[in-house]
Amino acid sequence: MSTTQVILRVIHVAAAAVWFAAPLGAASMVKRGMAAGGDGFKTAASEAVRRGNIGVGAGVVTLLSGFTLIFSLGGFKWIGPPIHAALSLVIVMLLIEAFLAKPAGAGLLRLSQEAGGEKDPAAAGLLKRYAMAGGIVQLLWVAVLALMFINPM
Ligand code: HEM
Repeated sequence: MSTTQVILRVIHVAAAAVWFAAPLGAASMVKRGMAAGGDGFKTAASEAVRRGNIGVGAGVVTLLSGFTLIFSLGGFKWIGPPIHAALSLVIVMLLIEAFLAKPAGAGLLRLSQEAGGEKDPAAAGLLKRYAMAGGIVQLLWVAVLALMFINPM
């Protein structure tokens, strides 16, 4: 394995690890923040949004370094079905983050900045959507990790 390939793998795996870890526990943090109300809710919601942004950034780096690895290995014709499946799953994961988790997090942050926002009837629904989206992404992440190791090429 060339030095470039080692470096690419390190970037790829480190970015994937940050993607998994950054949003871990964010939903329960917001839940506790909501129970505390006021500044507690505000701090928890803004921290959740910050961690979500770090996660999405790391997800994009994982995807881009994955592409670079594919080309350094000789292009798509050298890549087996597991990597193709992983690529599709990672796109689904990023879409879930962009269209489910991110808007729910932004909604929670907006409510947290309003007086008594934690009692707003929309808050519980937003938290549920935020937690569900995060859980699905984490599950898919584990599936993609498994796919990385069954690549037959
Ligand atoms: C959750 C997302 C991902 C995780 C956790 C992940 C993890 C890993 C790990 C641990 C390896 C090292 C495997 C080994 O050397 O045996 C690897 C390699 C690799 N990954 Fe990923 N990866 C992810 C997403 C992707 C995506 C989206 C692509 C394609 C665009 C991709 C393409 C590759 C390639 C081409 C290799 C080298 C495979 C080989 O040498 O056989 N990965 N990945």
